[in-house]
Amino acid sequence: MAHKINKIGVLTSGGDGPGMNAAVRSIVRYSLHYGLEVAGIMRGYQGLLEEDIIPLNHRSVSNIINKGGTILKTARSKDFSSDEGKAKAAEVMRKHKIDGLVVIGGDGSYKGANRFYELHGIPTIGLPGTIDNDLTGTDQTIGCSTAINTALESIDKIRDTAQSMERIFVIEVMGNKSGYIAMQVALAAGAEDVIIPERTFDYAAMHQELMEGNRKGKISYIIVVAEGAATAPVVAENITRFTGFETRYVVLGHVQRGGTPSGQDRLLSTRLGAAAVDLLLNGIYGKAVGILEDEINVIDLKDAVRRSHGDMEDHYELLKILT
Ligand code: F6P
Repeated sequence: MAHKINKIGVLTSGGDGPGMNAAVRSIVRYSLHYGLEVAGIMRGYQGLLEEDIIPLNHRSVSNIINKGGTILKTARSKDFSSDEGKAKAAEVMRKHKIDGLVVIGGDGSYKGANRFYELHGIPTIGLPGTIDNDLTGTDQTIGCSTAINTALESIDKIRDTAQSMERIFVIEVMGNKSGYIAMQVALAAGAEDVIIPERTFDYAAMHQELMEGNRKGKISYIIVVAEGAATAPVVAENITRFTGFETRYVVLGHVQRGGTPSGQDRLLSTRLGAAAVDLLLNGIYGKAVGILEDEINVIDLKDAVRRSHGDMEDHYELLKILT
């Protein structure tokens, strides 16, 4: 049943990603254009439970389209995870006269949003906000493109020293259980190898390749590791143990979550924010919005589960051909 939507609440939840601010800006200004009020819910679901809610106007979202992080702050809320927590959150929504909710977050945030919608029927829409690109229904998630660019910038710098000092470098990138970032980054950086959770990796073959390469005069190597597959210190230590070559490692970590959002992330966020408001205004709830092949794509929140990109064997083969 369509509810009358006068006020939309927006929150960011889970790990932040560059582009979330651009989504918030789009939601706020698009809503205002249609005469709606917008409530900014701080610190994700936790802020909702604690009634940490602020009105957002046109000026509240000035100059944020190019800013990383999220002005609404974000958190992972244990309290909201129970059904009691969700009942309290629904009460807060009613008290603050918030008729619809846009949740920008990843897999865990989507699950929470779906259960909240199922239990309380509150018009809810999810936007894919995670650097990991591990959600169904969208080609890309908000923050992934920037995270890839950030990792590349670092790896380009590491390559300078790797070549100068003729060293092997193992570089660990984020992605949670997904190797998507690692594979994209490895291909775009021209890395010599990549280790991802989705494919079985032959460590002995890599050690062998490093030794053969060394015999032929190839001394600097870049090996990208997805955090979900292995840790860089262990991979580096094993390389030294089995080959005798001095190996350095770098864990890029949270640096990948910050910085100026790429054009791609800003565009994605801007389009998705408006699409979320359109859905609420059209009485379409309990959905996750994405972009597939440049078209807005809407699926049920309950189906917007974690997505695997498979073993990306074609990418791996290409990488090895090109090294
Ligand atoms: O899901 C986004 C992400 O950055 C993952 O890539 C990473 O595994 C995780 O969050 C890190 O979480 P935290 O910021 O809590 O350490």
